[in-house]
Amino acid sequence: MGEVGYLTIAIDGPAGAGKGTLARRLADHYRLNLLDTGLTYRAVAHALLRVGLPLDNVSAAETAARQVDLAKLDRTVLSAHAVGEAASKVAVFPSVRRILVEKQRDFAKSPPGAVLDGRDIGTVVCPDADIKLYVTASAEVRAQRRLAEIESIGGTANLSEILADIVRRDERDMGRADSPLKPAADAHLLDTSEMAIEAAFLAAKSIIDDVMAKRDKA
Ligand code: C5P
Repeated sequence: MGEVGYLTIAIDGPAGAGKGTLARRLADHYRLNLLDTGLTYRAVAHALLRVGLPLDNVSAAETAARQVDLAKLDRTVLSAHAVGEAASKVAVFPSVRRILVEKQRDFAKSPPGAVLDGRDIGTVVCPDADIKLYVTASAEVRAQRRLAEIESIGGTANLSEILADIVRRDERDMGRADSPLKPAADAHLLDTSEMAIEAAFLAAKSIIDDVMAKRDKA
């Protein structure tokens, strides 16, 4: 088991690969706590945007990070596209990351264990996680999914602009010096480009059940 004896499932991957939905399905199935760590970076960005502070104000970002309460993350407010973009800008600051990572680790240690999804869970936050999944999909597929999501709630958007946004965010997340997005050496890769969520869930479940069965035998 993870560091403290509880089950930890780490899910990383780029924006729009389906890791959030997969994390929720797995947390329900294995009855584990769930933390979308992207919301913690979004909460910091949102706090700065709300009072009109620039996103490169590191000390304000650190203060906002200290004030993040994992029990009070409001997905409705934080899910706005602009907040995600801003989150990837405050996420480059090592001091902000350190503060949030500490809260995320504490969360992972609570019984009965947790599914955490983000960019650095398997590499930095929970390097001893029992199971690490790296969920990815081509940028084109992720852009198509995002467009369908926007249209399903009556919105309109331009596919090539969404694609450009996704590519830019990938570059920022994979290119930063501190905790860049990358699969942990021991992560199981799951490419969901041609997989519906149910198939991705079944594939992940089979990986997890396999790891747990081997561990029980050991
Ligand atoms: O996953 P989500 O789109 O909500 O994440 C918003 C941004 O927060 C990401 O683009 C990334 O820059 C940052 N993030 C991070 N590490 C995590 C989770 C999110 O740097 N563990």
